[in-house]
Amino acid sequence: MIRKARIDDVKAIHSLLLLTKEHDGLVLPRSFSQLYSHLRDFFVVVEGDEVIGCCALNIIWDNLAEIRSLVVLPEHRGKKLGRKLVEACLSEAVTLGIYEVYTLTEQTGFFAHLGFVEEGMEKLNQKVFIDCMNCPRFPDHCNEVAMVLNL
Ligand SMILES: CC(C)(COP(=O)(O)OP(=O)(O)OC[C@H]1O[C@@H](n2cnc3c(N)ncnc32)[C@H](O)[C@@H]1OP(=O)(O)O)[C@@H](O)C(=O)NCCC(=O)NCCS
Repeated sequence: MIRKARIDDVKAIHSLLLLTKEHDGLVLPRSFSQLYSHLRDFFVVVEGDEVIGCCALNIIWDNLAEIRSLVVLPEHRGKKLGRKLVEACLSEAVTLGIYEVYTLTEQTGFFAHLGFVEEGMEKLNQKVFIDCMNCPRFPDHCNEVAMVLNL
């Protein structure tokens, strides 16, 4: 089941992002402080009592939001949960009146499958770079590509 995250999901989301950094190095871990502040950005997928995936929609500007912190536990991948999490975020973007969504990712095949197209970073709102400046991988260890979807 996919639903909006609740306060008692934060520890599980924190672990998911940390686990994925250790195992794949593909998403940035988030501090508890960041997760509590941005809890309303998150959707989770739960099986029983367990949070097995998460994804966040981060509003950047008047018509731009970012899909980030997307993870599905390795043993649950390939079951369209990643797609459903992204689609939940896209649907929320439309509800909010936001029609351009981007992501910074190494998973270009997955996002291309969902209709995202590669875009030059310089085409995105300058606020995107604030996150880059604060990222431990910036600039020499970043392999991420900007991908955009117009809704
Ligand atoms: C990326 C990730 C979330 C995908 O989750 P998933 O639940 O396995 O993906 P889904 O099963 O929903 O796949 C959706 C579609 O994308 C396709 N797909 C999945 N991964 C793909 C890839 N790497 N390349 C191309 N297509 C891919 C699937 O075949 C599926 O196609 P279909 O709907 O036509 O059958 C998961 O692999 C993951 O957690 N990876 C590690 C963290 C990560 O890289 N996050 C992204 C950070 S931006």
